Amino acid sequence: MKHRNHAVPLSENKHLLRWVDKMAELTKPAAIHWVDGSEEERDRLYAEMVASGTLIKLNQKLWPGCYYARSDAADVARVEDRTFICSLSRDSAGPTNNWEDPYVMRRKLKTLFRGCMQGRTMYVLPFSMGPVGSPMSQIGVQLTDSPYVVVSMRIMTRIGMPVFKLIDRDEKRVVPCMHSVGAPLVNGKKDVPWPCNKEKYIVHFPEAREIWSYGSGYGGNALLGKKCFALRIASNMARDEGWMAEHMLVAGVESPDGEKTYVAAAFPSACGKTNFAMMIPPKGFEGWKVLTVGDDIAWIRPDKDGRLRAINPEAGFFGVAPGTSKKTNPNAMATLSRNSIFTNVALTPDGGVWWEGMTDEPPAECLDWQGNRWTPEIAKQTGAKAAHPNARFTAPASQCPTIDPAWEDPNGVPIGAIIFGGRRASTIPLVYQAFNWSAGVYMGATMGSEMTAAATGTVGKVRRDPMAMLPFCGYHMGDYFRHWIKMQRTLSVTPRLFHVNWFRKDAEGQFLWPGFRDNMRVLKWIVDRVHGRTHGQETPIGWTPQYSDIDWKGLDFPKQKFEELQNVDRAAWKSEVIGHEELFIVLHDHLPPEMIYERELLICRL
Ligand code: GTP
Ligand code: SPV
Ligand code: MN
Repeated sequence: MKHRNHAVPLSENKHLLRWVDKMAELTKPAAIHWVDGSEEERDRLYAEMVASGTLIKLNQKLWPGCYYARSDAADVARVEDRTFICSLSRDSAGPTNNWEDPYVMRRKLKTLFRGCMQGRTMYVLPFSMGPVGSPMSQIGVQLTDSPYVVVSMRIMTRIGMPVFKLIDRDEKRVVPCMHSVGAPLVNGKKDVPWPCNKEKYIVHFPEAREIWSYGSGYGGNALLGKKCFALRIASNMARDEGWMAEHMLVAGVESPDGEKTYVAAAFPSACGKTNFAMMIPPKGFEGWKVLTVGDDIAWIRPDKDGRLRAINPEAGFFGVAPGTSKKTNPNAMATLSRNSIFTNVALTPDGGVWWEGMTDEPPAECLDWQGNRWTPEIAKQTGAKAAHPNARFTAPASQCPTIDPAWEDPNGVPIGAIIFGGRRASTIPLVYQAFNWSAGVYMGATMGSEMTAAATGTVGKVRRDPMAMLPFCGYHMGDYFRHWIKMQRTLSVTPRLFHVNWFRKDAEGQFLWPGFRDNMRVLKWIVDRVHGRTHGQETPIGWTPQYSDIDWKGLDFPKQKFEELQNVDRAAWKSEVIGHEELFIVLHDHLPPEMIYERELLICRL
């Protein structure tokens, strides 16, 4: 095993072999490496990347098995304006996606990919989204010229021999995922630590179930199992096959007497999914536990009894580093303490990592995410951040102290509640519950959130982000709402739908809500509502808790502040509804009638 010749194909599947040949013919790599997924292979890739300068090996006493990467300064986040849905008709992609004619795009991709892997190794990387062999799982093969992507996908998905075995059985369709950083080593060109190309294309062919990604090595642009497959392509599969592919965390809430309730929650990028999925209940909630199934993506399907069940298609966390600390998210800190990759955080003199918010005291000095000397004084003078705001850790889910015993259950876990949430400084209360499924679909469909550093764009601007899927729905958003409406008809038990907002601010611009572990107080109300045990007060927008419905044990939180948090300001809501209309106008010819009824009902109640 140790001396495997990786040039020898590890699959006998004719279609796969032919495709690999064809792509090698197009991209002209210097070598082909079939990825077996072994630890020997991983260690060899790490050693090669340390030698080439792509990775720095962290101090192994402090950070066992951990590595450090700095990306190119222009390759730090998803590029939504370079992301394309190339369906046969423009109408199928809808107005919220960039569309290009698939024939035109294929021609463009051919020219981009021609010879693009010269001087590099092309890795043949088989992966399973979901536990290998689960009926809810899907498989893909990514061809990539980035070894950083290979070791990252090894953490984020299930890769290697077991997946080749599945492919050789030829039972499931394989999603071909073509990826290049777009930096061929020609004419004596020397390699750089983070090769990439100024020109970026993140392309999806929904009908052919195919992905082509060019020019970036970062996160969702390059780890193609994640947003490209598990959301954009999978949302198309899900619509066709009657299930749901969602940008949601999945967590289980266990009460002191052992009752288990699973919830799924859709918050936009960098709006708190990882934190919520790993929450440790606050003082006063002794005996309560939150267990983690997934922190970013959920595949949800009705079982034979008409109950929604969810799997986490991923096997790791690609989490936002800044703000993550022993105080805010001790479970994430434990998860990332070993066998992890850190990208665009700061490097400390003792060979460790640091980022803003990790400790109260910053290090006296360190190297920032671009390799420049950083000190707290320099930061004060120039505002320079040690870590990029979208710096990330890549860590195995199995290392999470609160990982749920059922997280790899091939049949998934039953979902009792679905929670939507955005980052909103005003208007939106801490928590409210939709009157019913169709009102809840309206609630999710009209969700707004301030933009974050997870994508390149204007940070802080409120945009409509339906179900946190605006950048991830691989087809017409109006049809997506219709699919949500239709899903209920296949269910005998309908999950309850909620909306939360941890980010409402007071007149001084301070967060009104402590957030993080205190979100457990809101979660407990949600769980109690699911089981019909607690009161909800009717308001124009839905049911809300009164002060006395929330468990305040261990927190001194004034009633008047809670009322400010929960306040439904009718004037503000009327302009909020006008904001809903902006999105609906764009989607009008595909909008299900339920959305119009719900809007009218809301206006009447206001
Ligand atoms: P993606 O991985 O981009 O999909 O992000 P995510 O939704 O998993 O967000 P994450 O949990 O990483 O949180 C993003 C940022 O929000 C971090 O800086 C957190 O510290 C902050 N955050 C998370 N939860 C809360 C909360 O309850 N209150 C406040 N004020 N901030 C929070
Ligand atoms: C997000 O942006 O929602 C992420 C990070 O989870 S990325 O994988 O880059 O999409
Ligand atoms: Mn995400």
